[in-house]
This record gives sequence, C-alpha cells and structure tokens, in this order.
Amino acid sequence: VRRSSPGAAAPVEAADAAVAARLRTLRPTRALVSLDALAANYSYLRERAAGADVLAIVKADAYGHGAVPCARRLEAEGARWFGVAIVEEGLELREAGIRGRILLLGGADGDALRLAVRHDLTPAVVSRESLDALLAHAAESGRPLACHVKVDTGMTRLGLPWTDFLERAPRLAAEPRLRVEGLFTHLACSDDPAVPFTRVQLERFRQCSVAWEQARGARPLLHVASSAGLLTRAETDVELVRPGGALYGLNPFGNQRAPELTPVLTLVSRVVRVVEVPAGTAVGYGSTFITLRASRLATIPLGYDDGLPRQVSDDWEVAVGGGRAPLVGRVSMDLVVADVTDLDGVGVGSEVVVAGGGDGSPALPIEEMAHRLRTIAYEVTSGISSRVPRLFVEGGVVTGIASRFEHLRSVAADAGSA
Ligand SMILES: Cc1ncc(COP(=O)(O)O)c(C=O)c1O
Repeated sequence: VRRSSPGAAAPVEAADAAVAARLRTLRPTRALVSLDALAANYSYLRERAAGADVLAIVKADAYGHGAVPCARRLEAEGARWFGVAIVEEGLELREAGIRGRILLLGGADGDALRLAVRHDLTPAVVSRESLDALLAHAAESGRPLACHVKVDTGMTRLGLPWTDFLERAPRLAAEPRLRVEGLFTHLACSDDPAVPFTRVQLERFRQCSVAWEQARGARPLLHVASSAGLLTRAETDVELVRPGGALYGLNPFGNQRAPELTPVLTLVSRVVRVVEVPAGTAVGYGSTFITLRASRLATIPLGYDDGLPRQVSDDWEVAVGGGRAPLVGRVSMDLVVADVTDLDGVGVGSEVVVAGGGDGSPALPIEEMAHRLRTIAYEVTSGISSRVPRLFVEGGVVTGIASRFEHLRSVAADAGSA
C-alpha cells in the first residue's frame, strides 16, 4: 500500500526560511528530520501491531535522527514505551520531560543502575551478572525492582540463555526482590522470513513464557519483534513490539526503499564554489579523478567527518539544479566535489540533496547509499555526525534544532549585529 507521506518531500525551502528567521546554523550542511513522516510511520506500525503496544526504539539518538524531538513527537502521538541501549540515553529522555516507560535494553549495574532506578528507567536483565546486580540493588533499597527479563533464544549476544531461564523460572517467579513485568527475546534472522531459525527461536521463547506462567500464575508483557518481525508478523501473541528502523522509514529487510514506510531524514547542503576547468584536471586527494572534458565542478561542504563515508568517493550522485550530479574525486573530511557540467543553473548557494528524502518514490534513498557501502541503512543515518545540525520539520516548518554547537548560538547571533 502506498500511502501519502506528510512532510517528507517539501521541507527544504520551508526549513530554510524558518531557519533564517528563528534559528542560526552557520554552515549550510544539515539533516532535515520530518517528524510528520515519523508520526506517519508510527501510525502505520501501530496498525500493523494489531493491538500490541509499540515500544519505540530511540537508542543511538534515534538512529541518528535526534532522540529527544523524536520521542517527544512519538509521545504526542500516543507512544507510552521507549527503548534505549544505555542509561545516558534514558536520562537524556527523562531530562527532556519524556514521561513514558523507558526500557534499558542493555541493562545496567552499579552506579548506572542506581541512576536508572532513581529516574524511573526500567532495566532489562541481560545476563546472570545483571540479575545478581538487580537483586543486590533491590535488597539494598528494600523495595522490589521492576524489570524485564531478556532471554537469549539464539542470537547469542545478550540475555539469560533460554535453558538457564527455564531452570531458574520457578525461583525467579518466587523472588520477592524482583517484579518481572516483561519477558522478551530478540530474533537473529527476522529480516529473512525464509530462514527457519526464527521458528526455533520462537519455540524456545514460547517454552520460556509457558514456564514463567506456570511458575508465576500470571503472564508478563511478552515482546519479540523488532521492525522486520513486526512487518512480517513473525509472532502475534504479544503485548509489545519493538520497532526502531521502520519508525525512521528505513527498510529492515534490505537495501531498497520500503514503499510502505515514509523517509524521515534528508541530508542537504549548498554549493560553496563552482569552477570551470579544462579536460585533464585532477580533482581531490590522490588526484583519483581526472576530467575527460571541459567541466564545471561544484564544491559541497560535507565530508567524512559529517558521515558521508569516504567509500562513496566516485560512487554517488547528489540531486542539484533539478538533476543528478556525480561525486568526483575523493570525499575528504569536510568537502566533496560534484560534476555539474550537464546541469544548467547550478551556482554558489544552490541547494543539494545528498541523501534521503523523497515522497515514497526514491529520491536518493538511504538504502541505496547503504548498498554502495555494503552496509545497512541504519548505519548510514546513525553515522551522520554530531557536526551536522538536525532540523526538525513539522507541518512544513522547522520547529526545532539539535546541534552540537547549540551553546554557540549567542555567539552566532552577535555576527548579525556587527
Ligand atoms: C533488543 C532490540 N529490540 C529492538 C531493536 C530494533 O530493531 P529494528 O531497528 O530493526 O526495528 C533492536 C535494535 O537493535 C534491539 O537490539
């Protein structure tokens, strides 16, 4: 089903006007994050969850999209659960006023656990040691500690090994120091529905949940699926689902755009220099590209420090001046060059879309860049660095900005009065 995608395609111009008026970003390179597109994906995933609650995964700064504004918008859309990897990410959400439940997928111990409990973050039991840490903390505080138990059913990364869980279930269920609210596992291969191992994991998890119910006489909140599992309905009899990538419009299955999801992020910049050069001109470090004809070359202020990987040197096209222009020469730390010879009207200040965007139809899909890089789309957006300000777009206007240089705003404002 191809759905409309509010706010996904339009924001560039509106964003610029609003930025000029209200917010200052001194460098033209920025990531536009459509919170309306995020909300559209959330609503779609909620439908697909068919009654299960969506626990929105916002770890890794919401996969590079900006955790606080994304969580705020999701909370406004009705989200009641959030998932983060580390305690700092949870504290950041609490400090920003997020009131929903926050599950610490990576667990916590020591000082991190104390802080987590104080700020109402719900730790996951992720190993035998983390179980001991939770028990010790609960004993110390004299209060039962709410947690979710993660069972390792075959991912072999994090969680109580499932056989271990089966053995411990009776003791754990009778443990007065813990209030086990949820039981979950993570699937290793749900991005490929043909892989039979998912069935094996689901059966192991089923045994764990049955063991728990028998021991405890009550069913905890069960959760299994991330984006891929949710979109294929790998399991259905659960209370929660845990999508991350799909919320951000990123295809969990492979490197093509997912037509049912709306792209959220667009990486944009502006041309800062245009030169006309003769045939035979070398471009960039190592002179890896030599013009074969008289060429017009546009410099874009974006490089590998911003998250444009060096591996796309000579292997990516950007959208500029109503057409596509190939990157030529090596991507350097702060700059890259595009060949705009065949495009009319590209000059200093021309808007460049480097990746993402589109309106369901492929613009410059993040998945396509991931394919070139032999990685997945998640890594591309997570890799957009903190040097790139995130501009949050709602209803076609910028409603917020997240920038590492936020504290310099007053300094930047001074430039206007000089
Ligand atoms: C335990 C857990 N649940 C859910 C997710 C979200 O996965 P996805 O982004 O594929 O939806 C992750 C991501 O790594 C995870 O580790």
